[in-house]
Amino acid sequence: MVNSKFFRECVSIMSENGIESAYFDTKCIFEDFPDTDREEILAMVQKRSGGYPLQYILGTWEFYGYKMTVNENVLIPRPETELLIENVISLCRKNNITRPVIADLCSGSGCIAIALSKKIPESEVIAVELSEKAVEVIRKNSEINDSDIKIFCSDVLKKETAEKFSGIDIIVSNPPYLTQNEMDTLQKEVTFEPVTALYGGSDGLDFYRKMIPLWKNSLKNGGYIMFEFGDNQHEEVGNILEHNDFHNITFSCDLQKIIRSVTAQKQEVL
Ligand SMILES: C[S@@+](CC[C@H](N)C(=O)[O-])C[C@H]1O[C@@H](n2cnc3c(N)ncnc32)[C@H](O)[C@@H]1O
Repeated sequence: MVNSKFFRECVSIMSENGIESAYFDTKCIFEDFPDTDREEILAMVQKRSGGYPLQYILGTWEFYGYKMTVNENVLIPRPETELLIENVISLCRKNNITRPVIADLCSGSGCIAIALSKKIPESEVIAVELSEKAVEVIRKNSEINDSDIKIFCSDVLKKETAEKFSGIDIIVSNPPYLTQNEMDTLQKEVTFEPVTALYGGSDGLDFYRKMIPLWKNSLKNGGYIMFEFGDNQHEEVGNILEHNDFHNITFSCDLQKIIRSVTAQKQEVL
């Protein structure tokens, strides 16, 4: 297939349009749509050449080894977000938490919630997401991965939502965290993703400021919060956690050595 003239033509079309991963992307399209006719393949190649994300063209993408349906209603799961999964698993192992109640806030495609429920089989995992269309994707992903997460279509920034939940061991979240400046200079591919999944207010920190005080009461004493955040946001996120009486605040770096996530513990009330 990769030796065919048509394959090479498709790679050339993408390359000429500035797609650096032209070979890889063409290979994915050919592999995922083996019986599709040339016209349709060509249409996909043209779409990709215009900067449309490969993941939306393919309709599925892998996250932590699990296949996730993706479409324009959800953020494309990023490899750096797998760090949250690693951190939750190792936190549970270290602290001997075998049956954690986990809430994934701003769940998007449900990738975090589903990977955690598969990797920690005794866990009870709740996914909370505002967008109804994203919730449809979470349901589908839960089904194809045979997971038993509980899905809620609710606004995590509302007190009434947080008040519905109690006794949570671990809150995990990758909320929208791009700043206004970052929104103004988005890479072409990212402009196709939902704004509501990206924009975190002028300095990108709106969700941390609002979610932490609202949701800390839903956590058990001694429970944990784990957040992903953007480049250079760690100090501010750490401060917000400290002001809300969290301690044991530790940061982790992603594979690019960018400080990317935080783990913090709610103070035990004696
Ligand atoms: C950065 S995306 C993360 C998606 C997924 N957790 C991931 O890591 O791929 C943030 C998600 O938060 C959702 N969201 C935005 N505002 C929200 C709100 N007020 N309540 C609940 N979810 C919200 C968006 O619809 C989007 O799906």
